[in-house]
Amino acid sequence: MQQHNLHFSEHHILITGVAGFIGSWLAESLLKLKNKVVGIDNFSSGTKENIINLMVFSEFQFIEHDVTRPLPKEAQQDFDYIFHLASMASPFEFPIYPLEILKTNIMGTINIIEFSLRKEIELVFSSTSEIYGEPHDNVPTPETFWGYVNSLGIRSCYDEGKRASEALLMAAKREYGLNAKIARIFNTYGARMRYGKHHGRVIPNFVVNALQNRPIEIYGSGIQTRSFLYILDLIEALILLANTHRSEMVFNLGNPQEITIIELARIILKLTKSNSQVIFRQSMPDDPSRRCPDITKAQTILKWHPKIDLEDGLRRTINFYRKTINSPIN
Ligand SMILES: NC(=O)c1ccc[n+]([C@@H]2O[C@H](COP(=O)([O-])OP(=O)(O)OC[C@H]3O[C@@H](n4cnc5c(N)ncnc54)[C@H](O)[C@@H]3O)[C@@H](O)[C@H]2O)c1
Repeated sequence: MQQHNLHFSEHHILITGVAGFIGSWLAESLLKLKNKVVGIDNFSSGTKENIINLMVFSEFQFIEHDVTRPLPKEAQQDFDYIFHLASMASPFEFPIYPLEILKTNIMGTINIIEFSLRKEIELVFSSTSEIYGEPHDNVPTPETFWGYVNSLGIRSCYDEGKRASEALLMAAKREYGLNAKIARIFNTYGARMRYGKHHGRVIPNFVVNALQNRPIEIYGSGIQTRSFLYILDLIEALILLANTHRSEMVFNLGNPQEITIIELARIILKLTKSNSQVIFRQSMPDDPSRRCPDITKAQTILKWHPKIDLEDGLRRTINFYRKTINSPIN
């Protein structure tokens, strides 16, 4: 990690969801900082390519495992930290794998909490801005907003699953003194995110279609807003979160620069010099109208703020997809 000066070395760390987008970047950064990393994943949305990149580090061990089952013996090591990231996270996955997503965020989190308590391990959990649902006037959204979500809607497997995870962590903290932090992550992007209709996300989908001069599809009117955080900024925040000794538990991690989806498409078309048409599809049910974090807490307590602006991050991301666009995994 060139742009950040982090002191976080010689720890023994477990990452769940290591074959995914964030997990693979986090593992790589922790290994470069001279930590020992064990990663587990069941490849439900992660890829073997992301693991192969990590195998060059002698201090990396991979164990194929589904977190909905208790950790196998070989994974029950004396870790200092666990980053519990395992969970599918693409809106395209919500209607196809709702039970898997709920089980991962309930049974998986219970398994990880029980293991952490037994071994007294510090736990960092990847929650999401989705737990806020529709923010109405609470924008930028602070950690104190309780959320407005639909328990029966198509997104409920994810947002209620994450809310259940947060409730489980709080219960374990109250009852048994679990040492846990909750990162409420807002849209994060960068290389290695999957694209396409099955596992894709908005930025890789727009970038790949733009590079291929295929239509860019916007769901809804495009005036819905999001705020996009570059992956290296998130990785820095997650490590700072693990490293803080403050008792505060919940932190928004995101970029407060809010833009509409139409504007995002326009920037990507400009940066890729693409001729793609923009076409509009029916909006996704319960899609939040705005999403923008209040990061005052992370700024004051973690001394963190995003450093990589959207165009810079998009340029880096576009370079990656230019090289890998024909990969069969997507
Ligand atoms: N990328 C974002 O913008 C974003 C935003 C908010 C929260 N998050 C959270 O961050 C975490 C990582 O997200 P990501 O973007 O890297 O997604 P991803 O899909 O790329 O990675 C998730 C990883 O978890 C693995 N996984 C899923 N279920 C599992 C199970 N039952 N057992 C073992 N492994 C399992 C998948 O195979 C995958 O490798 C998720 O918890 C997600 O909810 C991500």
